[in-house]
Amino acid sequence: MFGCSLFVHNVAMTNTSIPFSTPSDVVTARSVPRSATAVAVAVRSTGAVPRMVGMSRRDLERHGFAGEVGQSVAIPRRDGATVIAVGVGERPSSEDLRNAAAVAVRNAQRHQDVALDLLSTGSSNSADARAVTEGALLAGYRYPGITAKPDTQPRFASLTIVTSGAAAVERGVREGRIRSRATYLARDLANTPPAHLNASDLEAIVIDLAPTHGFDVEVFDENDLEGMGCGGLLGVNKGSVEPPRLMRLTYSPRNPRGHVALVGKGVMYDSGGISLKPSDAFHVVMKMDMSGAAAVLSTMTALKDLRCRNQVTGYIVCTDNMPSGSAMKLGDVLTMRNGKTVEVHNTDAEGRLILADGLSLAVEDKPEAIIDIATLTGAAMAALGPDIAAVLGTDSKVVEQLSDSAEATGEPIWEMPLEKARYRKLLDSNVADMRNIGGPYAGCITAAIFLSEFTGDVPWAHLDIAGPMKVDGDESWRSKGATGFGTRLLIDAVTNWSA
Ligand code: BES
Ligand code: MN
Ligand code: ZN
Repeated sequence: MFGCSLFVHNVAMTNTSIPFSTPSDVVTARSVPRSATAVAVAVRSTGAVPRMVGMSRRDLERHGFAGEVGQSVAIPRRDGATVIAVGVGERPSSEDLRNAAAVAVRNAQRHQDVALDLLSTGSSNSADARAVTEGALLAGYRYPGITAKPDTQPRFASLTIVTSGAAAVERGVREGRIRSRATYLARDLANTPPAHLNASDLEAIVIDLAPTHGFDVEVFDENDLEGMGCGGLLGVNKGSVEPPRLMRLTYSPRNPRGHVALVGKGVMYDSGGISLKPSDAFHVVMKMDMSGAAAVLSTMTALKDLRCRNQVTGYIVCTDNMPSGSAMKLGDVLTMRNGKTVEVHNTDAEGRLILADGLSLAVEDKPEAIIDIATLTGAAMAALGPDIAAVLGTDSKVVEQLSDSAEATGEPIWEMPLEKARYRKLLDSNVADMRNIGGPYAGCITAAIFLSEFTGDVPWAHLDIAGPMKVDGDESWRSKGATGFGTRLLIDAVTNWSA
């Protein structure tokens, strides 16, 4: 019930008492405020050094600072303030500025009033301003934790971005704030331990958020799902003592230009089920197996504030995946919402089973495109590593628009081939329409081919975020733990969507 004010109060508790973190306030000013105790100043790799730095290029170089992106040097000033020279390279891109802002903020940790003078490099566009805001706020994130005194305080008492005051720049800062706030939510949710966030808990949070952020919610429980024939979600849920939830979130502006559906994998905890995972350190992160659902929900919280002109329908499909006497077994056959049947050969390939129902329902809405997002396969992580998500789809225009958004947001994706003609046969089953795993190779591709069986004729693309869902240590704008990857990417994609 307090969740509506999630980012207004410092400590916002939902019914489930999860501590949510609050982004610092961002204000803009034409010049550095006197109260600032740390001032980050952009320094290029060539040309004049801004006077405020108070050092010559030669002196900076003597400190190993050449003005490259990623470099910084803190210079204490006589009046007690600190100037942080932040490298931005020769001609900074938005991406460079996002990274530079993150570096600046990570160097200003001990300060309360921080000013960022990073747009003085001649930039006057909204994308650069958005990037600086995002870099600063996202690097300022830390998970409050489930501790005696959860630290939900914003990192900085005040964060001032020095701008020219141009309308485009102010708009960029505002958009950056909205996108970062959404990403904070995705990170908090994915970082939350499984016992603190089951499917019903997430339902309560969604219901809290909906009125504030201008979307509608329909919740489908076990009984509803039975009637709807959602055999995939019910099958995965069979081993769990926690009931499943499927939620349909709708954002409908007046006279919408287009309509996109989003589907997110919400496996609240993935033990593997009967195909139990080994209990090694690697699998502690399976509380984050709902990162796709978190990205979809978080995206929905940004649309009203960004005045998104497209209708967006978000499906979040939630359950945990547990072994027990009632769990689904290898060899079981499930009937999905669209009528197709699946023979379960590995209960740890559960994400595709629940997405099958989510995608089938999304198809019934007849959107112009469907995008799903899921921590689906270790194979995607093996192929592309921890920074890059895989994208596969049936429609090159949807994939292209996602790639543009990936570029714009600094959340990289790489296309893998949806080779149905070659690899669909790896999913053949003797007893059902398909089985839920392919062979030992091309696991990211066979998973996507499986999903494509549930997308009908709707143009569709799939994001596999198993790799970038988390980061092991602070790195640029990505703070240790869940990254919220996909949130800004999806916000960008659905707001800019055109058929
Ligand atoms: N949630 C996992 C995928 C995953 C692994 C995400 C590591 C993030 C980090 C998914 O449900 C899974 O278990 N996939 C299996 C599929 C296999 C059984 C075909 C995998 O990738 O091993
Ligand atoms: Mn699994
Ligand atoms: Zn999983």
